[in-house]
Amino acid sequence: MEFIDLKKQYNDIAAGLGRRLGSVMSGTRFIFGEETEELEVRLAAYTGRKHCISCSSGTDALLMPLMAWQAGKGDAVFVPAFTFFATAEVASMLGAEVVFVDIEPGTFNMDPAKLRKAAERVKAEGRLRLRAVIAADIFGQPARNPEIEGLAAEYGMFFLEDAAQGFGGRIGSRAAGSFGDAAATSFFPAKPLGCYGDGGAVFTDSDELAGLLRSIRVHGQGREKYQNVRIGLNARLDNMQAAVLLEKLTVFDKETAAKNVIAERYSAALAGLLETPAVLPGYYSSWAQYSLLAEGPEEREFIIGRLKSQGVPTAIYYKAPLHEQPVYKGYDRRGDDLSASERICKRVFSIPMHAYLSDADIELITGTIAKACAEYRGDAHSA
Ligand SMILES: Cc1ncc(COP(=O)(O)O)c(C=O)c1O
Repeated sequence: MEFIDLKKQYNDIAAGLGRRLGSVMSGTRFIFGEETEELEVRLAAYTGRKHCISCSSGTDALLMPLMAWQAGKGDAVFVPAFTFFATAEVASMLGAEVVFVDIEPGTFNMDPAKLRKAAERVKAEGRLRLRAVIAADIFGQPARNPEIEGLAAEYGMFFLEDAAQGFGGRIGSRAAGSFGDAAATSFFPAKPLGCYGDGGAVFTDSDELAGLLRSIRVHGQGREKYQNVRIGLNARLDNMQAAVLLEKLTVFDKETAAKNVIAERYSAALAGLLETPAVLPGYYSSWAQYSLLAEGPEEREFIIGRLKSQGVPTAIYYKAPLHEQPVYKGYDRRGDDLSASERICKRVFSIPMHAYLSDADIELITGTIAKACAEYRGDAHSA
């Protein structure tokens, strides 16, 4: 069994994919061709945004808006303590100070009440300019983006939605990727919409920001080709990856719907045994991961071991909150409460989640977890 089954997905799309890749190769336009243009139009429409700027990775999709906003020294950038490293890395890379914000235990996403507290604390200290907040749509469920949008506006900050995991999710009729001054997504192969290498995109409604991002993406290019008007990057998405993504879009909604059915089946079978992920009313998740909470790290290891012995792969996202990563050693939380992120890292683990899981796979996974819990808790109680 695969954790995310890209082989079965490939079998589903092989014929169309072959045609699209063949067309790129015979056309020999590998950078900025028809496919990239079509993809940007399709993704902008998908998210309901005015602009989509494709780029080379989700990390660059986060970095480029911060570069455009000239975030740097003396700036505070608020990021969740529980997310993939890149969400914070981009701010540090530009010399800004990251301020870690705790998450809500049920959804794994940034807690708006704790964002307000942290913003008030930084404002009262007066040392840093409140510059931007980046909230990640963790495991596929959008963060409380409408509330965070409001808070960012209240404190005069930019809001960057990190939809690397959330693409395909929604809050009501608003798609992940439609929130904030800009939103970033990743097309890393295992992401909800993944390509066959690295890739990403930025979404925005601002013409000005879109222009800056298109310039930054190609070495700070000006109106003419070899004219450079600012410092930028080489952060283009290539046309082969755009072709892969266009083909994957043909099955994307079907896959996301199938994952939602599987998530419901997982939650129905596992509720009462382990803490199952909470999806807020009106929210729709793209299920980048299906993550459970064991009672503690020993029970988690026990369950993972039992699943492994049945050939079921698992993963731990994330073993440590970002403020405990070696590179942020010495991070001064200045009284901010980060306890939910710390606790969850000791309990969380993810089980296979993709559209091609069979009934037998689901039964094997849920049955093995149920047996492991009974065995562990029986043993723990008799010990
Ligand atoms: C929340 C989050 N942000 C950013 C990224 C970075 O994306 P990429 O790996 O495409 O650079 C990822 C994925 O790896 C992610 O999960």
